[in-house]
This record gives sequence, C-alpha cells and structure tokens, in this order.
Amino acid sequence: MPTLGQPLPHDSAIEHVRGEAAYIDDLPPLRGELIVDFVGSPIALGNISSIDTLAARAMPGIVLILTAADVPENSTGPVFHDEEVLASKVVQYVGQPVVAVAGETRAAVNAAMKLVRIQIEPLLPVLTIEEALAKKQFIGPTRKIARGDAGLALQSSEYRLTGEFAIGGQEHFYLESQATIAVPGESGAVVIHSSTQHPTEVQSLIGRALKIPYAQVVCICKRMGGGFGGKETQAAQPAILAALVASKTRRPARIVLGHEQDFASTGKRHPYLSRYEVGFTKDGKITALKSEFYSNGGFSADLSLAVMERTLLHGDNAYHIPDVELTGTVCRTNLPSNTAFRGFGGPQGVAAMENVIEEIAAFLKIDSLAVRRLNLYGQAKHNITPYGQVIHHNPLPAILDRLAATCEYAQHYHAVTAFNIKSKTHWKGLALTPVKFGISFTRRTLNQGNALVNVYLDGTVQVSTGGTEMGQGLNIKIRQLVADRLGIAADSVRVMATSTEKNNNTSPTAASTGTDINGAAAVRAADAIRDRLAVVAARHFVLDGLEATPECVDFADGWAFDHRDPSRRIAFVKLVQDAYEKRVDLGARGFFATPGVDFNRETGRGTPFKYFTCGAAFAVVKVDRFTGELAVECVDLLMDLGKMINPAIDRGQVIGGFVQGMGWVTTEALIYNAKGHLLSDSATTYKIPSVTDVPAAFRLDWFDGTDDPNAVCGGKAVGEPPLLLAIAVWAAAKNAIANAAPGRRPTLDLPATGEEMLRRLTAGTTPAEPPEKHLQGATSARPPIGSVPSTAVV
Ligand code: MTE
Ligand code: MOS
Repeated sequence: MPTLGQPLPHDSAIEHVRGEAAYIDDLPPLRGELIVDFVGSPIALGNISSIDTLAARAMPGIVLILTAADVPENSTGPVFHDEEVLASKVVQYVGQPVVAVAGETRAAVNAAMKLVRIQIEPLLPVLTIEEALAKKQFIGPTRKIARGDAGLALQSSEYRLTGEFAIGGQEHFYLESQATIAVPGESGAVVIHSSTQHPTEVQSLIGRALKIPYAQVVCICKRMGGGFGGKETQAAQPAILAALVASKTRRPARIVLGHEQDFASTGKRHPYLSRYEVGFTKDGKITALKSEFYSNGGFSADLSLAVMERTLLHGDNAYHIPDVELTGTVCRTNLPSNTAFRGFGGPQGVAAMENVIEEIAAFLKIDSLAVRRLNLYGQAKHNITPYGQVIHHNPLPAILDRLAATCEYAQHYHAVTAFNIKSKTHWKGLALTPVKFGISFTRRTLNQGNALVNVYLDGTVQVSTGGTEMGQGLNIKIRQLVADRLGIAADSVRVMATSTEKNNNTSPTAASTGTDINGAAAVRAADAIRDRLAVVAARHFVLDGLEATPECVDFADGWAFDHRDPSRRIAFVKLVQDAYEKRVDLGARGFFATPGVDFNRETGRGTPFKYFTCGAAFAVVKVDRFTGELAVECVDLLMDLGKMINPAIDRGQVIGGFVQGMGWVTTEALIYNAKGHLLSDSATTYKIPSVTDVPAAFRLDWFDGTDDPNAVCGGKAVGEPPLLLAIAVWAAAKNAIANAAPGRRPTLDLPATGEEMLRRLTAGTTPAEPPEKHLQGATSARPPIGSVPSTAVV
C-alpha cells in the first residue's frame, strides 16, 4: 500500500493523548539545576535611573543576578540588533526584561524578584498607530508595490470610495509558553533545549550574546506545544538568559515563562490600519486601488518589515486590479515587538481587500459574491499579480464556482434575506471569500533545507531535518515521504529531535514551508541511499543471464524488486544488510533549495512564491440586535491542497487554522490601558474560540481539480492558508451590518466583537462618519442595480 496519501495519525498522537509527549518543562530537573526568571519593566517607556539588586542577592537560595552590564554582548535581535538582552538605559515596553534572577528554587526566585528595585523616570509612551503616525515614529522605510498609475485610474473611475479600516492583533495562545533549559558543557560549550521554531537562530543569538563561537552551541527542539509564529524569533530572548546563567554558574538553568507573563511581555500579530481609495464600475469591476497599510510594530523591528512585505503581497487577495498601489509602513510603539503569527501579515492584507469588496457590494447594492467573481484572477488572462508574478494553474474560478454550488449559496442568500425581513431580534449576513496564499519565504535565502537520513541494519530509518514539530504534523509527513522513497512502512521511519548538531544553518519552520523544504531535503537524502541500494539490488536480479541495471530496481512494500519482473525481489532489510557487508554507505545528507523564487524588495517585483495555496470559505452569521453577539451558523470550506501527503493532518490544519482565524476576526481583542498595560491578558479576559463557538454546520471538502507541478512535495503547503478562510466570517458579519441598514455605509472594524457589532448596529440612521469623508464622486448617480443574483437588491 502506498504510504503517501494515507491519513496516518500525528507522529505523537498517542503520546499527546496519554500525556507522555515531553515538552520543555516536562524534562526532569537536572542535578544542580537553577530556575531563571526576569523582572520586567513596570512601565511602557522610561529612563532607568537605578537598579538595586542588593536585597535580592542576599536572599537565601539566590545564586546569580544579572543586569545589562553582565551580558557580554547585550545588543540582540533576529534581523537587526535593535533589542537588548536586558534593558540598560531605557525601557520600551511593559514587561521588558531588566534584571534576570537565578536561584535554587522557584520560591527563592519569586521572593528575590520582589526585592529588586528598579527606578525609572517615566516618559509618555506611544501605543497606537495613530500616535506613532502623529509622531512619525517608524521602523524602516515605507515599502511599495504598484502597477500602472492608480492615482490617474482613480480619477477616471466611474465610482470611488475612500475609507479607513482597523484590524486587531492576536495573541498566539500556544499552550506551552516560551521555555528553555540550558546545560553547560565542557570548555564553555552549552546545549540548549528550547521550544523554538528556529533552532539555528537561537544558536546564533546565544553565540552572539555570550560571545562564543556558534560551534560551541547546540540547540535542540523535540517539539513545541504550539508556536503559531510566536516562537519564530521570540524563543531566543529567554533562551539567551538561560544560556547566560548556565555559562556563568556552570549549572543547568531552566526558564519557563508564566502564561500571563508570556501573554503580557511577548509580541503578537500586528494590529493594522488601512486607508484605501478604490475605483470601480457600476457592475462592481475594480478599476483602481490605493491602499496604505500601517502596522503596529511594537518597540523593535523583529520581523515587522517582512510581515509588512507579505501584507503588500496579499493586498490584492485573489483579485486582478489593473492599476494598483499598495504601500506599507511599520510604526514604532511602546509595546512588545509584534511578530510572526500564522499568515505573517497576509491575513491583514486579505482582510483589507475583502473589506473593500464588501464596501463596493453594499454601495452598489449587489451581491458581494458577484463582485468577487467579477474581479477574480483569471486563468489565461488577468492572471498577473501587482508584483508581476504570473499565477499558473489558477484553480480559483473553479473553486469559487464549485463552492457556491455545493454550499447552496443562492438558497442561503434567499433564506438570509427572508430572515432579515421577518426577524425582530437578529440580523443575518453571509459571505463567500477566496484565499490565495503565496508559498515560500519572501526572503529568497531562507528557501533551503538540509536533512540527514540514517538506515540501520534492521531496516529501520532515522531522519533529522531542520524542521520543527509544533503540532502541525511535519514529522509524520516527513516519515511518509522518506518511507515512500525507500518503499517501506512509515512505521519503520523515525523523525529525530531537531538539533543544530545534525542540521546546520536551517531556516525557521515557518511560512508554511516546513514540509516543502525539509521534506524535499529528506527525499533527496533518502534517494541518495536508494540509488546506492539499487546498485546492490541490481546484482541480485539476473534476467536471461544478465544483471539488472539500477534503473530496473523499484522499492515498495518492504521490497526492492526488478520492475521488469516483480517476482525478482529482495526484502529491504536483507538488501540493507547485504549493502552493509559490501561496505556501502547507509547514511546520507540531502539538500534542497526551492528553485525559481526571486523577489526584488527595492522594485517590488518578481516571483516571491513557488506556488499559491488556494481555497474558499462560505459563512453565515447571526447577530443579536440588542447585544451585538455574533454566532457563526454555518461554514463550508473548500481547499486545493494538491496531492495530499496526509489528508488527516491536513484536515486538522484546515479546521484548526480556520477556527484560530475565527477567533481573530470575532472575539479576540487585545485591550491596553492608557499606560500600555495589556488588560486582556488571560483566558478569562481574552476570548479564544471554544468548542461551542464552532458552527454546528461545518463542512470541509477538497478541491482536486489541479495538478500543480510547482507544488514541491506533490501536496501543497497547508499551515497558514486556512487561517485566512475565516475572513469569510468577518465579511459575513459586515454583510449583516449592511443588511441591517441598507444605504448606510456598513463600516466594521476587525475583530467583529459583540461590542464592535453593537456599536455599528446602533450607530443610528445618520452615517457614522460624514459622507464627504468617504463617498467621493459617488453621491450623484443612483447606483445601478446589480445582476447576480437578482434578488440581491434589497
Ligand atoms: N499547527 C499547530 N498545531 N501548531 C502550530 O504552532 N503553526 C502554524 C501552522 N500550523 C502551528 C500549526 C504556522 S504559523 C506555520 S508557519 C506552520 O504551521 C508551520 O509548519 P509547516 O511549515 O510545517 O506547515
Ligand atoms: Mo508561521 S507565522 O510562518 O510561523
């Protein structure tokens, strides 16, 4: 039976259920191990005038206290070194590490932390995008991706709308918080067990901070209890603190952030503000779009510029816009540095585009699906993105049409209209939105991976790659890929803990490329061994007195066989033993670099993506008129994942990603007070979806219309794209607002929390904002009535 395409369970499914899967803090204490924690800044911005650690140092059980002066190289940061391991002179966000404390017990550390006195002269923090804009506090230059002349095309557009749209951030809410155990080795070496998506970066940032060669640092990651982007860069800071303590005390050191500490002091998805102007025809065909994006980057660069780049690369979502200008500016504020989060800026770009679509539909009083269908990228023409990449094998038109049919869009449309006429308590809305997510790191260099495959004499195999397992099912997919190449069962293949000792200079497991890059490298390593085994096997297959050539040898079901005559065969394990006897190398390294990707950041043009993962989502929502509470009634998803390696894992990714996205667009609101303290900092005040929020009618189907030769491992990357499907839920909420007051601008920010919905529903009959601000050149003509479906006209 072929291994590829089997719905095998997650690599650690049994261990997860039994509680046997070990996360960092499950590792038993090592002899002499110290507990490490840090005292964070109590305020969002200020100058440190003094730090008094005397009383804390005197606490029994306290072994080491560190301040900035104790860090060999205090400047740090993943892309630019614009952060500090411990704040030296200035604090720039609430919770920023200032003093690290290491002690024999948790209790001693807690007591000592209370005795640390940090004097700070407070300064007025900048917290919001608006404040940063007023003060012109930016990180990096404004970036632009444009085609044609949007300004000119807007002027000659039949209709124009301008508007502003605010998009909220999101907490990663991984169940395992940031955690590291550092173990000192001989001659200054250190071994790091870290919950990180990027072991190589943890290795190099520790090397830098401690001023020791990278070769002295080994970083290991067995698995993460969720990462979602939050451990792409931000695992490094606590890891450095633990490594410092380990190297200075020569004792193992453990740091595990408390959940609320992690919540309050680490970065999140970037909040955005978009200002747009769109031109369109009476039918809803978009003629021009200008979108300015501003993100709240927090205090340092982190990955904000790359995140903004992906926003711009997704600011078109799935639509062909002839003249378009997208600009992006990262704002510097006094919040923890915002960072990668599933979708990496893509969701914000797509949400902004879908907001524009809903605005156009509401203005023209036509159905939004008709507007979407009209503007959708085509297959032979209208298939070039604003950055010049040609969309090959575009499944979007077929996906939209099929989902519209299978979800019974027209029937739902009538039902929603009928409901809204009748109901005195609720409003309903619906939407069907497409997703086109670019797969590859937009930084070309990162599109590479290496793998190590070792075959043992009982025919079992170990694989090691730079990819990290965070729940997404990377390991089982790699097992399937390697098993497939060697013609053995996935059970015979084990994926080992990720370690910089085995795989060097690796990329983060991010951008949904984990399987593409590491899987392809593992396949190459397996193929190298397979080729050597084929030579050995060929000697066994004599046909008409002639030996077979290696090309005649195939591998399947635990056998190597002569494909001209499959009865000539040798068991894989026997072949391995024979190869060993003949002194054939049974280990190999594979390397893969994604071909054909190139993007010029300066010109904003190129082919940043190997391919796109596409899909569409349909959602119906129901909103309580009196409380604003939003319920998702029905969801129907359709995704094109090519030839899936593992449909069970992919199903989990799509449903999990969608529900996580649903939280972002509906209930998850990050509320800060005026001083920059996060108020919604725990599960009681920050509402992620629970099982009761998942719609009762929830369908997922696969679209298998395309066979995209660009897909790296046959199957298409699945990690992030499904999160963007949830934008359908937000668009449906906006549609409900539009249905509630036809003729009024259905302004809605994201997330559509109960408060936000109620605010918009009760905004009164007068427009929320003066019409001049929003409706330019659009007030004169009575909008024509749209076509599809004709009942769309209220
Ligand atoms: N799924 C689970 N269960 N846990 C996670 O942390 N992270 C997501 C996605 N799916 C995540 C997840 C993110 S942000 C990315 S980039 C991808 O998985 C990374 O893994 P992949 O490249 O192997 O898909
Ligand atoms: Mo995922 S946001 O690319 O780690």
